[in-house]
Amino acid sequence: MDPAALETEARSAIAAAGSAVELESARVRYLGRNAELPRALRQVRDRETGQALNALRARLERAFGERRAELEGAELELKLTADVVDVTLPGRPAPRGRLHLITQIRREIEDIFLGLGYQVVDGREVETAYYNFTALNMPSWHPARSPLASLYLDSETLLRTETSPSQIRVMEATGPPVYMVSLGRVYRRDTPDATHVPIFHQVEGLAVDRGVTLADLKGTLLHLMRALFGEERQVRFRTHYFPFTEPSIEPDVSCFLCDGGGCSVCKHSGWIEMGGAGMVDPELYGFVGYDPEEVSGFAFGLGLERIAMLRHGLPDLRELWENDLRLLRQF
Ligand code: PHE
Repeated sequence: MDPAALETEARSAIAAAGSAVELESARVRYLGRNAELPRALRQVRDRETGQALNALRARLERAFGERRAELEGAELELKLTADVVDVTLPGRPAPRGRLHLITQIRREIEDIFLGLGYQVVDGREVETAYYNFTALNMPSWHPARSPLASLYLDSETLLRTETSPSQIRVMEATGPPVYMVSLGRVYRRDTPDATHVPIFHQVEGLAVDRGVTLADLKGTLLHLMRALFGEERQVRFRTHYFPFTEPSIEPDVSCFLCDGGGCSVCKHSGWIEMGGAGMVDPELYGFVGYDPEEVSGFAFGLGLERIAMLRHGLPDLRELWENDLRLLRQF
């Protein structure tokens, strides 16, 4: 092997390599395990030749390294100019998400009651007939117990038809005083139309303490209605019947569109129906171990879809389930 000739040859190969890949194959050719120089180094017997060949190898390695840096720099430069990004171009707009209308109303009502010192309690959507009916004082023949009216999973278990079972669960779990709201889905065997959907939402309210009266119920609902529909609203009660309240009432709110003058939203009566309410029937205290001589309370249940419909003039409740973003984006 002629070291000087080898060096000249290798250096011209290094200079001729036009890319990192070409350079690497030249490196393998001259410095790889089976190349002439490394083989000669392995066979070297005398010190002087060894030193000379090692120095040659070091020179070539340095030359390869320098050329590699050069080529990589050039390749990077090329890539940068090819992939150039114009940072002055306007960006593509990222669509903003938003909360569903019912979720917005739910959170708004939770906030209003948190402000009054109430607890927000989760209920269960799958309930037993005991909590959904029996402990709410509903007789065995009550029509809501029929599988034609309610959605049963088995003979004792059903999708709750109202949020009222949360009243029983909360009173069972804690002693008085109780101030709570519970919001969530309820299920009924209804055929969908513009004002009925088989899955809808209620807010349940319960306040049990010493000396709670019907006037407290009225004040609380008045506060809620004014927060939802404006400071001018009035609330009135009509007598009604629920198995779990005595007396039972249906609260109306004065129409926020016509201010009581009469319009199509309030069907020209000046008043809008809001749901059900009443004083907790003392019978219920027997189911949860409260002393009806010590405490009294009120409860109410209102539909969130109804609030949404009234507030936004929504013509058809089924639209809330269609997930049409054009509709949902309006709220
Ligand atoms: N649970 C009743 C309903 O769904 C509403 C209600 C709740 C009435 C609490 C009185 C007290 O119709």
